[in-house]
Amino acid sequence: MNLILLGAPGAGKGTQAEAISAKLGIPQISTGNMLREAVKNGTELGMKAKAAMDSGALVSDDIVIGILKDRIAEPDAKNGYILDGFPRTVTQAEALDSMGVTIDHVLEIHVEDQRIIDRMSGRRVCVACGASYHVQYKPTKVEGVCDACGGEAAQRADDAPETVLSRLQVYQEKTAPLKAYYEKTGKLLTVEGQEEVADTTKLVFETLGI
Ligand code: AP5
Repeated sequence: MNLILLGAPGAGKGTQAEAISAKLGIPQISTGNMLREAVKNGTELGMKAKAAMDSGALVSDDIVIGILKDRIAEPDAKNGYILDGFPRTVTQAEALDSMGVTIDHVLEIHVEDQRIIDRMSGRRVCVACGASYHVQYKPTKVEGVCDACGGEAAQRADDAPETVLSRLQVYQEKTAPLKAYYEKTGKLLTVEGQEEVADTTKLVFETLGI
């Protein structure tokens, strides 16, 4: 199954992608995680992406389309994948179409902006493996330590309140038009993000029929 998860920053795409990945045994492909890894490693790509990411803007379509194309060609993606954070512009969606990729479902997770702002302040992300937590809704077993790999679970630089507001604005301008793009294909499904992670996961699984 090839899936796209759509939703505002902090809507819970990464959290649900991890759950679907565990259930279906297909990889979560997060362009945000790949870009953060490149920034952490100080690669040329990371250096190009850093300024845009720090300010809450989008990284250029050319860069992101390039890394996505390489990633979906890897062997672990041959039986399907979950795209988390891609596409984010109509140009990226068109690029995916022109790669000949068949998408089964586009799942939008809808959450009101105020709840998103509350969530971002409590998010913690593993600096080593990218696993996502929340101090209240999905805490690590040991404070500040990733359950999955033992790495440091820290706040993301772009989760500062003023950056979150600008990311929400970018989402409305650049990414929200993708809902109409995929509605036309009949593949768009929408779930309402719930107060508890497990309740959203239940709805997501039911909606996808998995
Ligand atoms: P990216 O990493 O993709 O960030 P994002 O889309 O802004 O999404 P987030 O990771 O912030 O949120 P999420 O929806 O995954 O929510 P999560 O599950 O963590 O991108 C970062 C940057 O990279 C972009 O700003 C851009 O610069 C660049 N970039 C990436 N892809 C790009 C592209 N294609 N084109 C151009 N630029 C690109 O959940 C949030 C928090 O809430 C967590 O703490 C979680 O535990 C908690 N939570 C989740 N669900 C629930 C629930 N139901 N109840 C309570 N808490 C919950």
